[in-house]
Amino acid sequence: MKTVVALPGEGIGPEVVDATCELLMGTGLPLKILTPPQGAPLPDETKRAAREADGVLFGAAGPKTSPVVSWLRWEMAAWAGVRPIRFFPGMRSPLAEPDGIDYVILRENSEGLYPGREGPLADLVRLMPDIADRTGRTVREFGTEGRFAVKVVTPRGAERIGRFACDLARRRQARGKPGKVTLVTKSNVLPKTDGLYDEIVGRLVREAGLPFEHFHVDDAARRLVRFPRAMDVVLCMNLYGDILSDLGAETAGGLGLAPSGNFGDGWAYFESVHGSAPDIAGQKIANPIGAIWSGALMLEHLGHPQAAADVVRAVEQVVKQGPHTRDMKGKASTSEVGAAVAEAARSQSKVAA
Ligand code: NAI
Ligand code: MG
Repeated sequence: MKTVVALPGEGIGPEVVDATCELLMGTGLPLKILTPPQGAPLPDETKRAAREADGVLFGAAGPKTSPVVSWLRWEMAAWAGVRPIRFFPGMRSPLAEPDGIDYVILRENSEGLYPGREGPLADLVRLMPDIADRTGRTVREFGTEGRFAVKVVTPRGAERIGRFACDLARRRQARGKPGKVTLVTKSNVLPKTDGLYDEIVGRLVREAGLPFEHFHVDDAARRLVRFPRAMDVVLCMNLYGDILSDLGAETAGGLGLAPSGNFGDGWAYFESVHGSAPDIAGQKIANPIGAIWSGALMLEHLGHPQAAADVVRAVEQVVKQGPHTRDMKGKASTSEVGAAVAEAARSQSKVAA
């Protein structure tokens, strides 16, 4: 028996997590789902339950539940964000030729500008009056009215995400994908910080004998729209991955469909890419597929690859044939779509058996 802790968050989080838990219970797998209390701060008993669980499924954070995602991602150091971008016929892509889009955005989750470290500019000017940009202008010249943010990168952070990218690329290569790693930074403007990622990740990927390319984030944004099929594993520094994963999700049908898994050392949790969507919360029209697909990533992590594949095929089927929620121009409710995916997954598993 494996234990899963479900933390719904708020807004549409509870709606999509409910649909996902229904589906998980319907698989007939030996799973026990616990829903310990959330609250801010997150209660110790909830943290304990999540640490001890085999899998953690999170809904979506909003203003009241941001401490939950803060704990899951930063305090528990889930430093690798895996965000598959996959187009299935029936998804509503704004691109003219979305067929065949199948890549992963790998977001470095723990460094860079996150979680925010900010302060008054006056403090920075006092501590480091002579820190200058490449034109020679020092921070003093901005005066003291203003604020600053700190971007941190470390060789350890770059190395672990670089190795993770290589492992992911090798696993994809074994399934017939190119196994290419595309690194996204902005090292033309930030040669020391982003440049450290270029240096370390580039070396690791080349040593692994895998195809490697590097693009600056502005060029990468364009390429994800223009040449999405050329992508395989797209390793992004934190902020770039946050932004580009929403962009990538839209090219493959929209935020409501996009899943993610977040991995650290002996720690993982799974959540859809979207937030709490206050504009549609409570209306039972949220698309549950992003959360359900995240549930499939969790099943793989729990050691149920066949069940995970059945759920992804079920998603593929429901995306093609309906029922669909409003974001996909349908009229079905969250639970109707969830039930249809669950039913399709059960027939898949019978076919497989
Ligand atoms: P959002 O992802 O909640 O919503 C963006 C747009 O996409 C909205 O129009 C929403 O209706 C639509 N949308 C999102 N998920 C959908 C679904 N499953 N089905 C149909 N439509 C869907 O982003 P927004 O509005 O910027 O943020 C709202 C709150 O969520 C904020 O408090 C933000 O901080 C939080 N947030 C939390 C995240 C997390 O928990 N990991 C990620 C992103 C935002
Ligand atoms: Mg985001």
